[in-house]
Order: sequence, then C-alpha cells, then structure tokens
Amino acid sequence: ALGGAGLLLPPSGQEAAAADLDPAGIRKFTLRMPVPPVLRPYAVSGTTRYYAMPIKEVNKTVVPGRTTAVRTFNGSFPGPVIKARSGERVVVRQTNQLSVPTSVHLHGAHVPEDSDGGPMDLIAPNGGRKTYTYPNTQPHANLWFHDHAHHAESENVFRGLTGTYLLTDDTEERLGLPSGAYDVPVSLRDARFDDSGALVYEMGDFLHRNVILANGKAWPYFEVAARKYRFRVYNTANMRYFDLSLSDGSEFQLIGTDGGLLPAPYRTTSVALSPGERADIVVDFSRYPVGTELVLANRPDAVPGGPADLVSQVLQFRVTRTAADSSVVPGVLRTLPELPPATVDRSVELFMDETSGPHGLAYIDGKVYDHDRIDTEIAYGTTEIWTVTNANQIAPHNFHMHLVQFRVLERNGQPVTSGPEYGLKDTVSLMPGETVRLQATFTGYRGTYVYHCHIFDHAAMGMMANMRIV
Ligand code: C2O
Ligand code: CU
Ligand code: CU
Repeated sequence: ALGGAGLLLPPSGQEAAAADLDPAGIRKFTLRMPVPPVLRPYAVSGTTRYYAMPIKEVNKTVVPGRTTAVRTFNGSFPGPVIKARSGERVVVRQTNQLSVPTSVHLHGAHVPEDSDGGPMDLIAPNGGRKTYTYPNTQPHANLWFHDHAHHAESENVFRGLTGTYLLTDDTEERLGLPSGAYDVPVSLRDARFDDSGALVYEMGDFLHRNVILANGKAWPYFEVAARKYRFRVYNTANMRYFDLSLSDGSEFQLIGTDGGLLPAPYRTTSVALSPGERADIVVDFSRYPVGTELVLANRPDAVPGGPADLVSQVLQFRVTRTAADSSVVPGVLRTLPELPPATVDRSVELFMDETSGPHGLAYIDGKVYDHDRIDTEIAYGTTEIWTVTNANQIAPHNFHMHLVQFRVLERNGQPVTSGPEYGLKDTVSLMPGETVRLQATFTGYRGTYVYHCHIFDHAAMGMMANMRIV
C-alpha cells in the first residue's frame, strides 16, 4: 500500500526459535579480541590493486560456548581490512553468495555513482557479482564498507556485513604515529542472541540489543604492551550510541575522526560516537605497570540505554608486557583543506513518528524516501551550507551524506573552531532538538547519491533522500 511512496515495509524480524540468551549470563572478558585480517590483493597492476570478496554466511564464536551464524565479507566477522593509499586505485569484486540482495557502500568515500553502493544498486543473491572501483582521490581517512541494500541494510549490517577501509597518504605516514601491531581497528556494536547463540533481529529493536561486541566478540579482552597504541574505533551499530572512556578516567588523545586526522591532537577523557562515526585515538599504556587491567567503558545512558551493568563496559585491556616505543603524536597533525565561500544555503529537517514503533514512518523534510524522487539538485562544483535539524523531542538521529566529507561549522548556534568535530566529517550526531550547520563542496563526480540518518532502522523507515549533482 505504501509502494507509491517508495516505501516498502521493512523486513519483519525473524521469529526467535528459542528464548533470548540472557546477556547477564555471558561471562565478560573471556574471549580475546581479534584484530581483523588485512585483505590481500589477488593482483596488482601499476598503482591498481585488485581484491575479491565473497559475501557469505559462516559460523563464529561471538559469545563464549555458542556458535553464531553471521553474514560476512570474506568469512571475517567483522569484515577484513582493506589498506589503500591516496592516488592508488582499488578494485573490489564482490560475489554475493547470500540468499538476499546486497549492495556494498564505501562509507565516507569520494567515488563515482556506479561504485558508491547505493540502496538500489543491488548485487543479486545466490552468486550475483559486482565490481566496485575506488579511485582514492581524497586524502587519508578512516573509511568502512557495509551493506546498503534498500530495506535489507539494517538486517544485513546487524548480521555482520561491515568491514574496515583504511586510506592513508604521505601526510599521515610521515607523522610517526603508532603503527603496525600498535595500530588496531576496533569495530563496536551491540547485538541480541537467542539461547542457541543465533542473532535475533527485529526492526527498531533498541531494548534487547544489550550484548556489546568489539571486533565480533562479546565483551572481549585485549592484551597490550605498556606503550602507545592507536585505535581506530568504529561505531558499526545499527542504533546504539557509544560514549567511551577509560575506567580510571584518565586522558587519551583523539587524533582523528571520520575523514582523517584533526589539525591537532585533542586531549580528552571521553569520546562520543553515533552510529557510523569513527574516533581515531591514541592511548598511552606506558603509565600503567605490567599486570594492570582496565576497561574501555561506555556511558550507560548513551542512546539507546540498556542495563548499566551490561552496556557500561565494552572491552578489557590487560597490560601484559613492556615494549619499546619510538612512535610519537606530533602537536600538529595536518592542515585542513581551505573552506571555499559557500554560495547556496539549504535546510534539512529530520523527523520521525515517535509513537508508532518500528513500523512507523521517518521523514526528511516531511517526505519518506522514494528512490525515484530527486530531493535536492546541486550544481556541480558548488559549495553549500546545509542547516540540519533534528525536529524530534525524544528520538536521536544523525546525518550522513554520501560522496563528500563535510565540515561542521556550527552546533546549536555555537561555532565549531576546535575539538572533536573540527575536522573532516561524513556523519554527525543530532540529539533531539539539535541543529548543525555543515559545509560541503560537490565536486569530482556527477550523479545521484543519498543522504540519510545513519540509524539504519530510521533510514529503512524512510529517513533518507536523494541528491543529484548535475
Ligand atoms: Cu554508512 Cu549510506 O551509509
Ligand atoms: Cu555512506
Ligand atoms: Cu534517525
């Protein structure tokens, strides 16, 4: 009935065959947090690297003593890491071995439309193939890839279809930041299981996803040496916000976010991540004696909440040895690209029906997503300022644009001139009633790209729109 509005009903949650696994019964800090494997190219020609990645279901240990079927890129949960360099092309051939359609979006990347992995650009199930070409014409950035198939993305991502894409360049490499085994991608999310260990997916389910996963393990531990580590922390959750700190309240340095490094390191005791956002942090464990255990903690009332005894812990660090450390965190990290003068002003309003539950509607500027409708026409090469408002009283949202890295000029009327949002961003948090002013330049590619709330369930309820660069 809603097809005319372009909104099919979201896939209904799978009926749990067994009772829920009680998260309180899961023993914390018993599984080791793995570091996701770096994917090897199958061919290299000039400055182009070729990768192949079957999308398939495999079984993994996610909670101790259980086996969980997960949807994966290349059999890894979370997916593998692709390491790319600015100016060098990456070509990825995806083969969809699942029985549902997929679309692989490279989040934060400046790519041509036909490799963006938009919601309608589907890879057919049961063997469909698509080759994505990533030109990597942007500076270094903490990118990631995930499913984006219209109305299936929320469940596909929940069941595992995410991976990490670290784009580097000379600017970043010259700095001498912690590297190699001391540069660790960490994907955070939440999950819900039944008693057999199977993932339980329900649309809009923020009450029951109270098991916290780091790199695909429930509340794992991670052994570290008493030296500096760089962690690329990704919030890959469908709906959960994280607000992270160290359990002793000590400082760490935020050195970068979505679109790469900040101009200068930012000393802080906490960092907040809405779904889709990234924090690039350096933690110096040299201040702790060998034998120290400390926890990466989460503020339990970050959105959605959940029982504090469960969601206030993420993973445990164990300082097990000393190690030499020649890495540094320089006081100046990068120069942000100049902000050209903007010539177009727009406003965007995010709003959802808060009363009708997971099958309610969610809107951008009063409209639910219609993949055939162009909502915003942008002249190629224009620099624009978008004023984005969360018009809800209760529901948090965030705002993500494909194609561009933007700058956050203002939050709630306050200019952003330093701090965690003073860098290149592609996703920005909007708590109820908040407004941000963003600036972006639409250059490089013409075509149709989406912008949306990165709470996947909200996007699937309609909070997504098309922009066309012409
Ligand atoms: Cu990470 Cu359109 O999204
Ligand atoms: Cu994206
Ligand atoms: Cu939202």
